[in-house]
Amino acid sequence: MKLVEGFSKLSKQEKINFLKDNYLSDFPEADTILHQYLNEDVKLQRLHDEFIENTLTNFYLPFGVAPNFTINGKNYIIPMAIEESSVVAAASKAAKFWGQRGGFKATVIGTEKVGQVHFTYAGNFQELNQFVDEIKSDLKLAIKPITKNMEKRGGGIKSIELRNKTEDLAHYYQLHCTFETKDAMGANFINSCLEELAKVLQERASVQLSSNLEIVMSILSNYVPNCTVKAEVSCPINQLGATKEEAEKYAKKFLQAIQIATIEPYRAVTHNKGIMNGIDAVVLATGNDFRAVEAGVHAFASRNGKYKSLTHAKIENDVFTFWIEVPLALGTVGGLTSLHPLVKLALALLQHPSAEELMKIVAVAGLAQNFGAVNSLVTTGIQEGHMKMHLMNILNQFDANAKERNQAVEHFKTNTVTHSSVVEFIQSIRS
Ligand code: MEV
Repeated sequence: MKLVEGFSKLSKQEKINFLKDNYLSDFPEADTILHQYLNEDVKLQRLHDEFIENTLTNFYLPFGVAPNFTINGKNYIIPMAIEESSVVAAASKAAKFWGQRGGFKATVIGTEKVGQVHFTYAGNFQELNQFVDEIKSDLKLAIKPITKNMEKRGGGIKSIELRNKTEDLAHYYQLHCTFETKDAMGANFINSCLEELAKVLQERASVQLSSNLEIVMSILSNYVPNCTVKAEVSCPINQLGATKEEAEKYAKKFLQAIQIATIEPYRAVTHNKGIMNGIDAVVLATGNDFRAVEAGVHAFASRNGKYKSLTHAKIENDVFTFWIEVPLALGTVGGLTSLHPLVKLALALLQHPSAEELMKIVAVAGLAQNFGAVNSLVTTGIQEGHMKMHLMNILNQFDANAKERNQAVEHFKTNTVTHSSVVEFIQSIRS
Protein backbone atom coordinates (compact mmCIF):
# COMPACT_ATOMS: atom_id res chain seq x y z
CA MET A 1 0.00 0.00 0.00
CA LYS A 2 1.35 3.41 -0.85
CA LEU A 3 1.36 6.30 1.61
CA VAL A 4 -1.01 9.08 0.66
CA GLU A 5 -0.12 12.77 0.41
CA GLY A 6 -2.71 15.51 0.97
CA PHE A 7 -5.54 13.10 1.85
CA SER A 8 -7.27 15.70 4.02
CA LYS A 9 -7.49 18.06 1.03
CA LEU A 10 -9.47 15.58 -1.07
CA SER A 11 -13.26 15.92 -1.25
CA LYS A 12 -15.36 13.35 0.59
CA GLN A 13 -16.05 11.38 -2.62
CA GLU A 14 -12.38 11.56 -3.63
CA LYS A 15 -11.42 10.14 -0.24
CA ILE A 16 -13.95 7.34 -0.66
CA ASN A 17 -12.67 6.62 -4.18
CA PHE A 18 -9.12 6.44 -2.89
CA LEU A 19 -10.14 3.95 -0.22
CA LYS A 20 -12.15 1.88 -2.71
CA ASP A 21 -9.22 1.73 -5.13
CA ASN A 22 -6.57 0.98 -2.55
CA TYR A 23 -8.18 -0.83 0.35
CA LEU A 24 -11.76 -1.82 -0.40
CA SER A 25 -11.51 -3.44 -3.84
CA ASP A 26 -12.93 -6.67 -2.36
CA PHE A 27 -15.76 -4.83 -0.60
CA PRO A 28 -18.23 -3.78 -3.31
CA GLU A 29 -20.83 -2.57 -0.79
CA ALA A 30 -18.49 0.22 0.42
CA ASP A 31 -20.14 3.05 -1.52
CA THR A 32 -23.66 1.99 -0.57
CA ILE A 33 -22.85 1.63 3.11
CA LEU A 34 -20.95 4.88 3.39
CA HIS A 35 -23.76 6.75 1.65
CA GLN A 36 -26.53 4.99 3.56
CA TYR A 37 -25.25 6.40 6.81
CA LEU A 38 -25.02 9.97 5.54
CA ASN A 39 -27.81 12.32 6.54
CA GLU A 40 -29.96 13.73 3.78
CA ASP A 41 -30.22 17.01 5.65
CA VAL A 42 -27.19 18.75 4.19
CA LYS A 43 -26.83 21.18 7.08
CA LEU A 44 -26.98 18.43 9.68
CA GLN A 45 -24.47 16.35 7.72
CA ARG A 46 -22.11 19.32 7.47
CA LEU A 47 -22.31 19.76 11.23
CA HIS A 48 -21.23 16.15 11.72
CA ASP A 49 -18.60 16.35 8.99
CA GLU A 50 -16.99 19.21 10.85
CA PHE A 51 -16.83 17.57 14.27
CA ILE A 52 -13.72 15.68 13.15
CA GLU A 53 -11.33 15.48 10.23
CA ASN A 54 -11.60 13.25 7.15
CA THR A 55 -15.25 12.43 7.87
CA LEU A 56 -16.62 9.91 5.39
CA THR A 57 -20.00 9.16 6.93
CA ASN A 58 -21.65 8.81 10.34
CA PHE A 59 -21.31 5.95 12.78
CA TYR A 60 -24.61 5.34 14.55
CA LEU A 61 -25.02 4.20 18.12
CA PRO A 62 -28.48 3.43 19.46
CA PHE A 63 -29.87 6.23 21.61
CA GLY A 64 -32.28 4.89 24.24
CA VAL A 65 -33.78 5.94 27.53
CA ALA A 66 -34.08 4.36 30.96
CA PRO A 67 -37.22 5.64 32.68
CA ASN A 68 -38.38 5.74 36.30
CA PHE A 69 -35.27 7.00 38.05
CA THR A 70 -35.92 8.83 41.31
CA ILE A 71 -32.88 10.82 42.39
CA ASN A 72 -33.12 12.97 45.51
CA GLY A 73 -36.89 12.81 45.18
CA LYS A 74 -36.96 14.01 41.56
CA ASN A 75 -38.07 11.86 38.64
CA TYR A 76 -35.76 11.38 35.63
CA ILE A 77 -35.74 9.61 32.31
CA ILE A 78 -32.07 8.96 31.60
CA PRO A 79 -30.80 9.08 27.99
CA MET A 80 -28.21 6.46 27.07
CA ALA A 81 -26.11 6.04 23.93
CA ILE A 82 -24.67 2.52 23.81
CA GLU A 83 -24.37 -0.43 21.46
CA GLU A 84 -24.52 -3.18 24.10
CA SER A 85 -27.80 -4.98 24.62
CA SER A 86 -29.27 -5.40 28.11
CA VAL A 87 -27.65 -2.25 29.55
CA VAL A 88 -30.71 -0.01 29.18
CA ALA A 89 -33.00 -2.82 30.33
CA ALA A 90 -30.87 -3.43 33.44
CA ALA A 91 -30.78 0.29 34.27
CA SER A 92 -34.55 0.58 33.88
CA LYS A 93 -35.14 -2.46 36.04
CA ALA A 94 -32.82 -1.18 38.78
CA ALA A 95 -34.49 2.25 38.60
CA LYS A 96 -37.90 0.69 39.19
CA PHE A 97 -36.65 -1.60 41.95
CA TRP A 98 -34.99 1.23 43.90
CA GLY A 99 -37.77 3.67 43.05
CA GLN A 100 -40.02 1.44 45.16
CA ARG A 101 -37.49 1.58 48.01
CA GLY A 102 -36.95 5.32 48.41
CA GLY A 103 -35.02 6.00 45.21
CA PHE A 104 -31.41 7.07 44.76
CA LYS A 105 -29.69 9.70 46.84
CA ALA A 106 -26.77 11.57 45.35
CA THR A 107 -24.38 14.23 46.63
CA VAL A 108 -21.57 16.10 44.93
CA ILE A 109 -18.49 15.94 47.15
CA GLY A 110 -16.24 18.28 45.18
CA THR A 111 -15.89 20.00 41.81
CA GLU A 112 -12.18 20.81 41.68
CA LYS A 113 -10.49 20.44 38.29
CA VAL A 114 -6.73 20.21 37.82
CA GLY A 115 -4.17 21.40 35.30
CA GLN A 116 -0.39 21.43 35.33
CA VAL A 117 2.48 23.34 33.79
CA HIS A 118 5.34 20.85 33.59
CA PHE A 119 8.82 22.37 33.51
CA THR A 120 12.46 21.72 34.26
CA TYR A 121 14.78 23.86 36.31
CA ALA A 122 18.37 23.00 37.08
CA GLY A 123 18.94 25.63 39.78
CA ASN A 124 18.37 25.87 43.49
CA PHE A 125 14.90 24.86 44.80
CA GLN A 126 14.74 27.64 47.42
CA GLU A 127 15.32 30.25 44.75
CA LEU A 128 12.60 28.73 42.54
CA ASN A 129 10.18 28.47 45.44
CA GLN A 130 10.63 32.11 46.38
CA PHE A 131 10.34 33.18 42.76
CA VAL A 132 7.04 31.31 42.27
CA ASP A 133 5.68 32.84 45.50
CA GLU A 134 6.64 36.29 44.26
CA ILE A 135 5.05 35.99 40.84
CA LYS A 136 1.88 34.06 41.86
CA SER A 137 -0.39 37.08 41.95
CA ASP A 138 1.07 38.32 38.63
CA LEU A 139 0.41 34.91 37.12
CA LYS A 140 -3.23 35.11 38.19
CA LEU A 141 -3.45 38.66 36.85
CA ALA A 142 -1.97 37.60 33.51
CA ILE A 143 -4.81 35.14 32.90
CA LYS A 144 -7.58 37.59 33.92
CA PRO A 145 -8.66 38.11 30.29
CA ILE A 146 -9.30 34.35 30.10
CA THR A 147 -10.77 33.91 33.59
CA LYS A 148 -12.96 37.00 33.96
CA ASN A 149 -16.08 35.52 32.35
CA MET A 150 -15.68 32.29 34.27
CA GLU A 151 -15.28 34.34 37.45
CA LYS A 152 -18.61 36.04 36.75
CA ARG A 153 -20.16 32.57 36.84
CA GLY A 154 -18.44 31.77 40.13
CA GLY A 155 -15.49 29.86 38.69
CA GLY A 156 -11.88 30.58 37.82
CA ILE A 157 -8.45 29.54 38.97
CA LYS A 158 -8.38 28.51 42.62
CA SER A 159 -4.75 27.79 43.41
CA ILE A 160 -1.26 27.64 41.94
CA GLU A 161 1.20 25.41 43.75
CA LEU A 162 4.81 24.66 42.97
CA ARG A 163 5.45 20.93 43.20
CA ASN A 164 8.96 19.56 43.42
CA LYS A 165 9.16 16.27 41.51
CA THR A 166 12.94 16.06 41.32
CA GLU A 167 13.04 12.91 43.43
CA ASP A 168 11.14 11.10 40.68
CA LEU A 169 12.70 12.84 37.67
CA ALA A 170 15.78 15.05 37.59
CA HIS A 171 15.05 18.80 37.47
CA TYR A 172 11.30 18.25 37.07
CA TYR A 173 8.80 20.65 38.67
CA GLN A 174 5.15 21.52 38.17
CA LEU A 175 2.81 24.38 38.65
CA HIS A 176 -0.07 22.30 39.94
CA CYS A 177 -3.17 24.46 39.45
CA THR A 178 -6.74 23.90 40.55
CA PHE A 179 -9.82 25.35 38.84
CA GLU A 180 -13.56 25.67 39.29
CA THR A 181 -15.31 25.56 35.92
CA LYS A 182 -19.00 25.56 37.01
CA ASP A 183 -21.24 24.10 34.26
CA ALA A 184 -18.43 23.72 31.75
CA MET A 185 -16.22 20.63 31.62
CA GLY A 186 -13.54 23.28 31.29
CA ALA A 187 -10.87 21.56 29.18
CA ASN A 188 -10.40 24.50 26.81
CA PHE A 189 -10.61 27.04 29.60
CA ILE A 190 -8.02 25.21 31.71
CA ASN A 191 -5.64 24.59 28.82
CA SER A 192 -5.81 28.25 27.73
CA CYS A 193 -5.07 29.37 31.30
CA LEU A 194 -2.16 26.94 31.60
CA GLU A 195 -0.54 27.96 28.32
CA GLU A 196 -0.71 31.62 29.35
CA LEU A 197 0.66 30.82 32.81
CA ALA A 198 3.53 28.91 31.20
CA LYS A 199 4.33 31.84 28.94
CA VAL A 200 4.50 34.29 31.81
CA LEU A 201 6.45 31.83 33.98
CA GLN A 202 9.05 31.44 31.24
CA GLU A 203 9.30 35.18 30.57
CA ARG A 204 9.69 36.11 34.21
CA ALA A 205 12.10 33.25 34.91
CA SER A 206 14.43 34.33 32.11
CA VAL A 207 14.78 37.72 33.81
CA GLN A 208 14.62 36.81 37.51
CA LEU A 209 16.20 33.38 37.91
CA SER A 210 19.89 32.58 37.80
CA SER A 211 19.41 29.15 36.14
CA ASN A 212 17.50 28.09 33.07
CA LEU A 213 13.78 27.24 33.41
CA GLU A 214 12.34 25.29 30.48
CA ILE A 215 8.64 24.64 29.91
CA VAL A 216 7.95 21.03 28.85
CA MET A 217 4.17 21.19 28.43
CA SER A 218 0.95 22.60 29.82
CA ILE A 219 -2.20 20.48 30.00
CA LEU A 220 -5.21 19.75 32.16
CA SER A 221 -5.30 16.49 34.10
CA ASN A 222 -8.11 14.03 33.60
CA TYR A 223 -7.35 12.70 37.06
CA VAL A 224 -9.84 14.60 39.22
CA PRO A 225 -9.95 12.91 42.64
CA ASN A 226 -11.49 16.07 44.13
CA CYS A 227 -14.27 16.30 41.56
CA THR A 228 -16.36 13.44 42.88
CA VAL A 229 -19.94 12.46 43.45
CA LYS A 230 -21.54 9.87 45.71
CA ALA A 231 -24.74 8.01 44.83
CA GLU A 232 -26.46 5.64 47.19
CA VAL A 233 -29.43 3.34 47.70
CA SER A 234 -30.53 1.66 50.88
CA CYS A 235 -33.43 -0.31 52.31
CA PRO A 236 -34.22 -2.68 55.19
CA ILE A 237 -32.85 -6.11 54.27
CA ASN A 238 -36.29 -7.69 54.40
CA GLN A 239 -37.24 -5.68 51.31
CA LEU A 240 -34.70 -7.64 49.28
CA GLY A 241 -36.56 -10.94 49.15
CA ALA A 242 -39.91 -12.66 49.50
CA THR A 243 -38.98 -14.20 52.86
CA LYS A 244 -36.60 -13.10 55.63
CA GLU A 245 -34.24 -16.02 54.87
CA GLU A 246 -34.25 -15.35 51.15
CA ALA A 247 -33.60 -11.63 51.69
CA GLU A 248 -30.73 -12.26 54.12
CA LYS A 249 -29.15 -14.84 51.84
CA TYR A 250 -29.41 -12.48 48.88
CA ALA A 251 -27.95 -9.49 50.77
CA LYS A 252 -25.06 -11.61 52.04
CA LYS A 253 -24.24 -12.90 48.57
CA PHE A 254 -24.49 -9.41 47.09
CA LEU A 255 -22.08 -8.14 49.74
CA GLN A 256 -19.67 -10.98 49.01
CA ALA A 257 -19.71 -10.05 45.32
CA ILE A 258 -18.74 -6.47 46.21
CA GLN A 259 -16.04 -7.70 48.62
CA ILE A 260 -14.58 -9.90 45.88
CA ALA A 261 -14.46 -6.90 43.52
CA THR A 262 -12.73 -4.94 46.26
CA ILE A 263 -9.92 -7.39 46.91
CA GLU A 264 -9.50 -9.08 43.52
CA PRO A 265 -8.39 -6.88 40.59
CA TYR A 266 -9.39 -9.43 37.90
CA ARG A 267 -12.97 -9.21 39.14
CA ALA A 268 -12.75 -5.47 39.95
CA VAL A 269 -11.98 -4.57 36.32
CA THR A 270 -15.04 -6.41 35.00
CA HIS A 271 -17.18 -5.13 37.87
CA ASN A 272 -16.14 -1.55 37.09
CA LYS A 273 -16.61 -2.19 33.37
CA GLY A 274 -20.25 -2.88 34.16
CA ILE A 275 -20.44 0.41 36.06
CA MET A 276 -18.94 2.18 33.04
CA ASN A 277 -21.66 0.64 30.84
CA GLY A 278 -24.04 2.97 32.64
CA ILE A 279 -21.69 5.91 33.10
CA ASP A 280 -20.33 6.04 29.54
CA ALA A 281 -23.77 5.69 27.98
CA VAL A 282 -25.05 8.82 29.74
CA VAL A 283 -21.75 10.67 29.34
CA LEU A 284 -21.90 10.01 25.59
CA ALA A 285 -25.59 10.87 25.23
CA THR A 286 -25.01 14.19 26.99
CA GLY A 287 -22.08 15.11 24.75
CA ASN A 288 -19.34 14.64 27.31
CA ASP A 289 -15.88 13.16 26.86
CA PHE A 290 -16.14 9.51 27.86
CA ARG A 291 -12.42 8.88 27.35
CA ALA A 292 -11.60 11.56 29.91
CA VAL A 293 -14.13 10.09 32.31
CA GLU A 294 -12.85 6.53 31.76
CA ALA A 295 -9.21 7.52 32.33
CA GLY A 296 -10.07 9.46 35.49
CA VAL A 297 -12.36 6.81 36.90
CA HIS A 298 -9.89 3.94 36.52
CA ALA A 299 -7.06 6.01 38.02
CA PHE A 300 -9.38 6.74 40.95
CA ALA A 301 -10.18 3.02 41.29
CA SER A 302 -6.49 2.35 41.82
CA ARG A 303 -5.66 5.44 43.88
CA ASN A 304 -4.49 3.39 46.86
CA GLY A 305 -2.07 1.32 44.81
CA LYS A 306 -4.46 -1.50 43.97
CA TYR A 307 -7.31 -1.55 41.47
CA LYS A 308 -10.60 -1.89 43.36
CA SER A 309 -14.37 -1.80 43.00
CA LEU A 310 -15.88 1.65 42.67
CA THR A 311 -19.00 0.50 44.48
CA HIS A 312 -19.33 -0.48 48.12
CA ALA A 313 -21.98 -2.22 50.18
CA LYS A 314 -22.70 -2.76 53.85
CA ILE A 315 -25.35 -4.20 56.12
CA GLU A 316 -25.84 -2.32 59.37
CA ASN A 317 -28.79 -2.66 61.76
CA ASP A 318 -30.55 -4.81 59.17
CA VAL A 319 -30.29 -2.05 56.59
CA PHE A 320 -28.63 -2.79 53.26
CA THR A 321 -26.71 0.15 51.76
CA PHE A 322 -25.06 0.18 48.36
CA TRP A 323 -23.12 3.16 47.06
CA ILE A 324 -20.61 4.47 44.56
CA GLU A 325 -18.11 7.29 44.69
CA VAL A 326 -16.66 8.37 41.35
CA PRO A 327 -14.76 11.30 39.90
CA LEU A 328 -16.72 12.89 37.05
CA ALA A 329 -15.59 16.03 35.23
CA LEU A 330 -18.69 16.86 33.18
CA GLY A 331 -20.16 19.84 31.42
CA THR A 332 -23.65 20.90 30.45
CA VAL A 333 -22.54 23.98 28.53
CA GLY A 334 -19.94 24.40 25.79
CA GLY A 335 -18.43 21.73 23.56
CA LEU A 336 -20.86 19.33 21.90
CA THR A 337 -23.64 20.30 24.33
CA SER A 338 -24.64 23.29 22.23
CA LEU A 339 -23.82 21.73 18.84
CA HIS A 340 -25.11 18.19 18.61
CA PRO A 341 -28.91 18.11 18.18
CA LEU A 342 -29.30 14.78 20.02
CA VAL A 343 -27.14 16.00 22.88
CA LYS A 344 -29.35 19.07 23.17
CA LEU A 345 -32.36 16.76 23.24
CA ALA A 346 -30.75 14.55 25.90
CA LEU A 347 -30.08 17.55 28.11
CA ALA A 348 -33.65 18.77 27.57
CA LEU A 349 -34.92 15.30 28.58
CA LEU A 350 -32.96 15.72 31.80
CA GLN A 351 -34.60 19.15 32.25
CA HIS A 352 -31.39 21.09 31.51
CA PRO A 353 -29.28 19.95 34.46
CA SER A 354 -26.33 21.86 35.88
CA ALA A 355 -22.98 20.06 35.70
CA GLU A 356 -23.39 19.05 39.35
CA GLU A 357 -26.85 17.63 38.71
CA LEU A 358 -25.49 15.72 35.71
CA MET A 359 -22.70 14.32 37.91
CA LYS A 360 -25.39 12.92 40.21
CA ILE A 361 -27.41 11.46 37.33
CA VAL A 362 -24.37 9.80 35.77
CA ALA A 363 -23.20 8.33 39.09
CA VAL A 364 -26.69 6.95 39.65
CA ALA A 365 -26.66 5.37 36.17
CA GLY A 366 -23.36 3.68 37.10
CA LEU A 367 -24.69 2.45 40.42
CA ALA A 368 -27.93 1.20 38.86
CA GLN A 369 -25.99 -0.64 36.18
CA ASN A 370 -23.76 -2.28 38.75
CA PHE A 371 -26.76 -3.27 40.82
CA GLY A 372 -28.34 -4.86 37.74
CA ALA A 373 -25.16 -6.76 36.84
CA VAL A 374 -24.33 -8.01 40.34
CA ASN A 375 -27.98 -8.87 40.95
CA SER A 376 -27.99 -11.09 37.84
CA LEU A 377 -24.58 -12.56 38.64
CA VAL A 378 -25.53 -13.70 42.14
CA THR A 379 -28.96 -15.00 41.12
CA THR A 380 -29.75 -16.25 37.60
CA GLY A 381 -26.32 -15.60 36.05
CA ILE A 382 -25.66 -13.01 33.38
CA GLN A 383 -26.28 -15.16 30.32
CA GLU A 384 -30.03 -15.50 30.72
CA GLY A 385 -30.72 -11.85 29.85
CA HIS A 386 -27.88 -11.63 27.35
CA MET A 387 -29.05 -14.67 25.49
CA LYS A 388 -32.57 -13.29 25.12
CA MET A 389 -31.09 -10.25 23.38
CA HIS A 390 -28.70 -12.48 21.43
CA LEU A 391 -31.71 -14.48 20.22
CA MET A 392 -33.38 -11.26 19.02
CA ASN A 393 -30.21 -10.17 17.22
CA ILE A 394 -29.96 -13.49 15.38
CA LEU A 395 -33.65 -13.38 14.51
CA ASN A 396 -33.08 -9.89 13.09
CA GLN A 397 -30.17 -11.16 11.02
CA PHE A 398 -32.57 -13.67 9.48
CA ASP A 399 -35.38 -11.13 9.01
CA ALA A 400 -37.68 -13.30 11.12
CA ASN A 401 -41.33 -12.29 10.93
CA ALA A 402 -43.61 -11.87 13.97
CA LYS A 403 -44.83 -15.48 13.90
CA GLU A 404 -41.31 -16.89 13.62
CA ARG A 405 -40.18 -14.65 16.49
CA ASN A 406 -42.96 -15.86 18.77
CA GLN A 407 -42.19 -19.48 17.91
CA ALA A 408 -38.49 -18.92 18.60
CA VAL A 409 -39.10 -17.15 21.92
CA GLU A 410 -41.35 -20.03 23.01
CA HIS A 411 -38.88 -22.67 21.88
CA PHE A 412 -35.86 -21.04 23.55
CA LYS A 413 -37.62 -20.73 26.89
CA THR A 414 -36.58 -24.34 27.42
CA ASN A 415 -33.66 -24.67 25.00
CA THR A 416 -30.19 -23.14 25.12
CA VAL A 417 -29.55 -20.19 22.81
CA THR A 418 -26.45 -20.53 20.67
CA HIS A 419 -25.95 -19.06 17.22
CA SER A 420 -26.15 -22.47 15.57
CA SER A 421 -29.18 -23.64 17.58
CA VAL A 422 -31.12 -20.52 16.54
CA VAL A 423 -30.09 -20.88 12.90
CA GLU A 424 -31.13 -24.54 12.94
CA PHE A 425 -34.46 -23.65 14.54
CA ILE A 426 -35.22 -20.97 11.93
CA GLN A 427 -34.30 -23.35 9.12
CA SER A 428 -36.50 -26.06 10.63
CA ILE A 429 -39.61 -23.87 10.89
CA ARG A 430 -39.02 -22.43 7.43
CA SER A 431 -38.56 -25.76 5.68
C1 MEV B 1 -20.95 -6.72 30.72
O1 MEV B 1 -20.92 -5.67 29.79
C2 MEV B 1 -20.78 -6.20 32.12
C3 MEV B 1 -20.68 -7.26 33.22
O2 MEV B 1 -19.65 -8.19 32.92
C4 MEV B 1 -20.39 -6.52 34.49
C5 MEV B 1 -20.09 -7.42 35.67
O3 MEV B 1 -19.59 -8.53 35.50
O4 MEV B 1 -20.33 -6.94 36.80
C6 MEV B 1 -21.96 -8.05 33.31
